[in-house]
Amino acid sequence: MCGITGYIGKNNGVEKVLEGLSKLEYRGYDSAGLAAIDNGKLNIVKTKGRLKELEKLVLEGKVEGNVVIGHTRWATHGVPSGANSHPHTSMDGKIAVVHNGIIENFRKIKDSLLEKGYVFKSETDSEVIGHLISYYYDENKDPLLAIKKAFDSLEGSYACLIIFLDHADKIFAVKKDSPLVIGVGGEEVYLASDPAAFIKYTKNIIYLENNEIATLGSDEIKIFNMDLEKVDCKVEKSNLNEDSASKEGFETFTLKEIYEQPKVCMDTLNSKLENGDIVYEDFPFTKEELSKINKIYTIGCGTAFYAGINFSYLAKKMLGIESFEILSSEFRYDLPNLDENSLIVAVSQSGETADTLAALKEARKMGAKIVAITNVLASAITRLSDYSIYTLAGPEIGVCSTKAYTSQLMAIYEFILYLAKATGKIDESKFKEYIEELKSIPEKQKKILDDVGIYEEIANVIKEKSSAFYIGRLIDYKTAMEGALKLKEISYIHTEAFPAGELKHGSIALIEEKTPVIAVLTQEEVFEKTLSNLEEVKARGAVTIGIYSEIFRGKDKTDFSIFVPETYKVFYPILTAISVQLIAYNTAKALNRDVDKPRNLAKSVTVE
Ligand code: F6R
Repeated sequence: MCGITGYIGKNNGVEKVLEGLSKLEYRGYDSAGLAAIDNGKLNIVKTKGRLKELEKLVLEGKVEGNVVIGHTRWATHGVPSGANSHPHTSMDGKIAVVHNGIIENFRKIKDSLLEKGYVFKSETDSEVIGHLISYYYDENKDPLLAIKKAFDSLEGSYACLIIFLDHADKIFAVKKDSPLVIGVGGEEVYLASDPAAFIKYTKNIIYLENNEIATLGSDEIKIFNMDLEKVDCKVEKSNLNEDSASKEGFETFTLKEIYEQPKVCMDTLNSKLENGDIVYEDFPFTKEELSKINKIYTIGCGTAFYAGINFSYLAKKMLGIESFEILSSEFRYDLPNLDENSLIVAVSQSGETADTLAALKEARKMGAKIVAITNVLASAITRLSDYSIYTLAGPEIGVCSTKAYTSQLMAIYEFILYLAKATGKIDESKFKEYIEELKSIPEKQKKILDDVGIYEEIANVIKEKSSAFYIGRLIDYKTAMEGALKLKEISYIHTEAFPAGELKHGSIALIEEKTPVIAVLTQEEVFEKTLSNLEEVKARGAVTIGIYSEIFRGKDKTDFSIFVPETYKVFYPILTAISVQLIAYNTAKALNRDVDKPRNLAKSVTVE
């Protein structure tokens, strides 16, 4: 996820673009840049680091212009660096492009451009856009046709702003599957990933649709489809204010991020899928080396740890390898016997968590193989790992992890399938079936998010008590642990998770009148057992809430029942996770908690 913004008008737009970028920093903040056309010159300023670094350079260079495009980056292809920052330019420096999204077929296109003699300055997928447009532009000097032809061959998602020095009275915009809005303010036109960037100046908004190209001048806006036929543009009056706009209309970042999950899970899955296969570019271990792995350890902290324990569980089930999960803070002081046949899978959203880094340093000394699953390109954890698998969750602003968790699960499922195939534990047809099922997951997540009526009711019951319990068996226990962490973290209600069969060995003494007990029930072989555990607590006064697989509809016996769509047994956590998040979220809201910034917590824990 990145943020883009643009300005065209009669005045200097550099300050407004910088201001817009500051409103979009929640979309990415590892580097920033802008391009401005001023008196027949195209100036580019870009740098690694937060926006204030760019502001300094702009000030020093006295950069001005009335046609300006800007970008704030969250790296996905290519580490944060000056060269990888946007805008990217054509070789003659006359075309500049900012891009938010992912160009999935960039390697193929890059190779063909390299053959034609194009020189690339960055490692990004985005750089191909400017070169490809310039290739077509050189054919007949028609900017619109050149953009159309370029995007006809680019696959993936994009919101792009393009400026041409030869056409200094226009900004060109194109959109598919990444957000892009136009703000119409008299003789000034604004563009951005999100209206927050310009809502202070105008509330008149055009929402560009997928597969549309716009040409924007200070006195005229035209919108075309990809056949270059003109389409109507409707200006709508927005009722957003500066604060709500940056959350895309959601009341909190956390809720916005909960709703982003289908998209980020799909992006994470697709980033490694090529022609139905899972491809990890430059993966350092051979099939032979992978076949020799005899122990797997997953490490992490908090939610990342709970994602990781799914990996160990699946590794036992699907690879038949002895697998253990150990919290990073324990692992570092209590090292198991590791050697080159041990695989460490370290999960960390930030890639900077001190305990996980310390654990990895120890594991490295002992020669273990290390694969990181992280959301931040070139983060510290990646430098201690032999290989890094990136989740494409984009920046997570809410302190409690939501979309990072489910995208970690998606990366874990894909990695397990990759290992299973590489080591001959799964045949081609089964592999294909699993991949097809993974592709259907985002739609199933959407279904859960479309049907949220019951959560407020449940929250009103949970909020009345100072403690609650989560129970589950097998893989459902993993979700129960994550559910308990979510609930306590943002509602401040003390919540514990238990394997459902364990409650009766002591903890059931804590159940009193109206104590909420939330059960996760998706696994057929233990369904009846967990139901009887629910009966036991109900008999002692508990209010029972069940998160069931759809396959158990009609067999539910709880006071409140939530159903998630059917999926493969091992994939339920990526669905039930959303229900536990919604329970926590609604309870926290019912208690008026500061959901985005729960007390005592920091987003990234870089101290021991
Ligand atoms: C909980 C949460 C934390 C983090 C943990 C690890 O919602 O966000 O438990 O998961 O601090 O952080 P990372 O993943 O950055 O290593």
